[in-house]
Amino acid sequence: MFKGKTVLTGVKPTGTPHLGNYLGAIKPAIALGNQATNHFMFIADYHAINAEKDPVVLNQKIKEVACVYLAFGLDPNHTVFYRQSDVPEITEITTILYAYTPKGLMNKSHAYKACVDKNREAGKPDDDGINMGLYTYPTLMAADILTFNTDIVPVGRDQIQHVEIARDIAGAFNAHYGEEVLKQPTYYIEESVAVVPGVDGRKMSKSYNNVIPLFADDKEIKKAVFSVPTDSRPIEEPKNPDEILVYEIYKSIATPEQLKEMADGLRGGKLGYGHIKNMLLSAVLDEVKEAREKYNYYMENYHEVEEMLKKGAEKARPIAQATLKRLKDKVFGR
Ligand code: TRP
Repeated sequence: MFKGKTVLTGVKPTGTPHLGNYLGAIKPAIALGNQATNHFMFIADYHAINAEKDPVVLNQKIKEVACVYLAFGLDPNHTVFYRQSDVPEITEITTILYAYTPKGLMNKSHAYKACVDKNREAGKPDDDGINMGLYTYPTLMAADILTFNTDIVPVGRDQIQHVEIARDIAGAFNAHYGEEVLKQPTYYIEESVAVVPGVDGRKMSKSYNNVIPLFADDKEIKKAVFSVPTDSRPIEEPKNPDEILVYEIYKSIATPEQLKEMADGLRGGKLGYGHIKNMLLSAVLDEVKEAREKYNYYMENYHEVEEMLKKGAEKARPIAQATLKRLKDKVFGR
């Protein structure tokens, strides 16, 4: 399905990931990128400045996200891996796209609407604290995508609308000039990716404070795993695994054999809660062991990562320049 296609993945620099981020987004994004004939992956640092105004914090997050993807096996020889701000043509293209972006389309963007709703709930004016970067965010995202003649954008459900906006903007531009100047992308949702429950049973999310961290030390990971609530039934009492949260989390990471072992042990009254928590802990630590070593290596030798990102931008820029020229030729009639 991705043979012969150009796939583009954008990641926000949000710091080190938890188990839910890894299994739900990072792992599938890397796997999918490897299947694509052309894969672009970039760190959306211009998107990030809308919210993060402290350069020290932002820089640290950018570093972390770059090292995380490399640690989990992103191959910079296959994937064109770059920082958005290292490809200035993207922002020039954004400026051209503004002229083809109806303001009403931005008014309808979920990200902006969510902020307005929050303001209303708090009894504040609609646009309180909302900057133009946030308001026009979908146009920059459209430029991210359209610059590289992208066929497919893998996204989570919350980003579908943004890809549709990119399609609409490209469509408006093409319609005006009566030819396909910009390729219209489609989004792709990986249906098989599980939502990983957090230690309280709700979706694992930083905002719920219920995460199993991956890049913390073993003790901290253990603490999170052992905080999953259980009851006081004795080991011998046969239990239905599907009613046990540790088992639900284990599902997202264990092999079928490992999963069966836990399920059989619970049903047969052979495994207690301490046992199954240790099984989950081992599975998490095994999954990230190598990645953590690589992550630490890249963080300590960040100049190597800088070099990779620079090379990525060098590969990305000629493509971006060609798209920019195509657009300028049209809009200025050259
Ligand atoms: N908006 C995306 C997010 O919040 C990040 C992003 C920016 C992106 N530009 C993109 C994703 C282009 C895909 C394609 O996660």
